[in-house]
Amino acid sequence: MSASHPITPWRATAHSNIALVKYWGKRPSEIPDLNLPAVSSLSLTLDELRTETTLEPSASDIFVLDGQSLQEGAAKKVFAHLDRVWTALGHSDPRPPCQVESTNHLPTAAGLASSASGFAALTLAAHGAFGGSLDLESISQLARRGSGSAARSIWGGAVRLDRGSKADGSDCRAYPIATPQACENWRFIIVHTAQGPKAIGSTGAMQRCAETSPFYPAWVEGNEADIEVAHKAIEAQDLEALGAVMEHSCYKMHACMWATVPALRYWNGVTLSVLEALEKLRAQGHKAYATSDAGPHVKVLCAASASEELASALARVPGVHQVQVVAIGPHASSGAR
Ligand code: PMV
Repeated sequence: MSASHPITPWRATAHSNIALVKYWGKRPSEIPDLNLPAVSSLSLTLDELRTETTLEPSASDIFVLDGQSLQEGAAKKVFAHLDRVWTALGHSDPRPPCQVESTNHLPTAAGLASSASGFAALTLAAHGAFGGSLDLESISQLARRGSGSAARSIWGGAVRLDRGSKADGSDCRAYPIATPQACENWRFIIVHTAQGPKAIGSTGAMQRCAETSPFYPAWVEGNEADIEVAHKAIEAQDLEALGAVMEHSCYKMHACMWATVPALRYWNGVTLSVLEALEKLRAQGHKAYATSDAGPHVKVLCAASASEELASALARVPGVHQVQVVAIGPHASSGAR
């Protein structure tokens, strides 16, 4: 361990988020490792779905996820991110080895994004443990370099991530646009349509989509207009307008994915059945709107007062494994252990 830079045991909790206006695609950059998004995005943070992470000094790098020690894959990404945070905090000596333990409080079925809450919690834990004094916006920019959506999980409520245009990425920044309290009348119903991990990770999929989908330029071009509509709808607490732009962003992203070569089709038959059931519920007067990410699950945005009735109706769609009603969640938190 470095005598000059001891590691302070630290803990952090960050909540997952669901994008209403999606991030899909990376901005080409001269500077490696910035992980700049090609489009801006806007999300709501989730209440129960969260990652808790602790970091402490150790004789060697160790990563324990949900009680299981990992060596490859996820562990390598975690250690690379620790190096990134260490260097960003101005340390020039090698990073001392660390033990990181993370627990995902996410639904039992896999395939729901844990990278947002995971990298947000990891960044906050590492920043604290390594003696950082960055502001939240800079911490969010660091989290983005681990996973784009993680930049938004630093805050609760509604969060906007601007793509920016500067080559150094300094104007690519996330910031909260509505407090958790301002969103307390909304719920997400998470409708699980499959079990098991997603087929292809987002980074490779985004790259393939940008390179081969003829719809990709249109996807990028339409983004700023969607962001402004969604931002205004959040400020006006207009669920109908927000739901409409959210569905449009989701369908555009998936259309872009379907037109990728080879096709990226994350949805299954049950996904389509849920979307159809939702349209029928809407025709009956319910205000409920769907979105879906790089996986087959459907997330339905609705008013808190209607959420239990809608959840029961969606649970009856043949093939649905589980439904979960989730409130809008708080800011991430961290502190010395
Ligand atoms: O943060 P990543 O690299 O896992 O990408 C997330 C991409 C989507 O979940 C599909 C959309 C989003 O904005 O969260």
